[in-house]
Amino acid sequence: MYKIWLISIILLFIMTGCGTKIILKPPVDDQTGATVEVNENGSDDDYEGDTEYLDIEDILEETTDDIGLDEKPVIPPSNQEVVESDIEGYHDLIVDLSNKQLDVDITDPRLSDLVKHLKTNTYNHTLKQIGKVTEPDHLYALVNKLNQLPESYIPSDLREPQIRFSFSGPDEKRNLRDAAATGLETMFEAADAASLQLFALSGYRSYNRQRDIYNNNVSTRGVEATDKVSARPGHSEHQSGLAMDITSESAGFNLVYAFGETEEGIWVRENAHLYGFIVRYGKDKTPITGYDYEPWHLRYIGLDLASYIFDHQITLEELYIHVEKAIHLQ
Ligand code: DAL
Ligand code: ZN
Repeated sequence: MYKIWLISIILLFIMTGCGTKIILKPPVDDQTGATVEVNENGSDDDYEGDTEYLDIEDILEETTDDIGLDEKPVIPPSNQEVVESDIEGYHDLIVDLSNKQLDVDITDPRLSDLVKHLKTNTYNHTLKQIGKVTEPDHLYALVNKLNQLPESYIPSDLREPQIRFSFSGPDEKRNLRDAAATGLETMFEAADAASLQLFALSGYRSYNRQRDIYNNNVSTRGVEATDKVSARPGHSEHQSGLAMDITSESAGFNLVYAFGETEEGIWVRENAHLYGFIVRYGKDKTPITGYDYEPWHLRYIGLDLASYIFDHQITLEELYIHVEKAIHLQ
């Protein structure tokens, strides 16, 4: 009897275990803007089998002893700001960028509103101090590692776009600012017309929610890894109500790099600008944005800048630095 049980258990293990990819799922779908994927090789490049989702918190709970940790890492203070050692190399690159030959033509009509905005708003591009976004309601507000939204900032025109979400039930993350919501509704309709189903996953986040997400990531991954995928409180475009993370069934309804290679992800990369959005954290732009590639993170910036940025394949940072410099040379 004992042997029959043993053989049954071994058979069951082989049947269910073989060919199963283990994916460590973040504690909450949009904790980081990225899903940690791990298989035996530490890579997901050529995997074609089934996918099994595990909760990373459960695993950490169970394996804390195995990996030699007596207790969870210390969570940094919630208002921790960016300091030089956090983003070494980033500062030099920004300086390099501003010294590069300008190829931005500020007489292009698509840039006229940006020129006006940058004549009355200054953004910080160095690590000497963190810039405070003084007009957070402005469509062109630059929110990044060096420019922070006020803790108290909550957009006044948030609403839920009438689009498909990857989850059910009410949540503040369904919301976007009105103009961004309208742009995304139109974009989802166009994707539907092309027989591509997009799913929205995470839009507006309050300062406090971003703080909790950031701190939770630090507790599981550490500061260095977290800073590549998750913004510190006040530094996330999600607080501006102008950013939405989107996904597809083909990407497992997750926020994964692979989304960028799905039919839906390719369509988004090639068409989002027609609806006022940019893929904010491009594939080869990590040294400039400070974040890993995020094919799922869309920032609403309006038709003019989205079109300009798409045509020139540059980041917001590059555009702003070059336009500011051109204004000063006038
Ligand atoms: N994942 C992006 C960088 C954010 O946290 O806003
Ligand atoms: Zn995002």
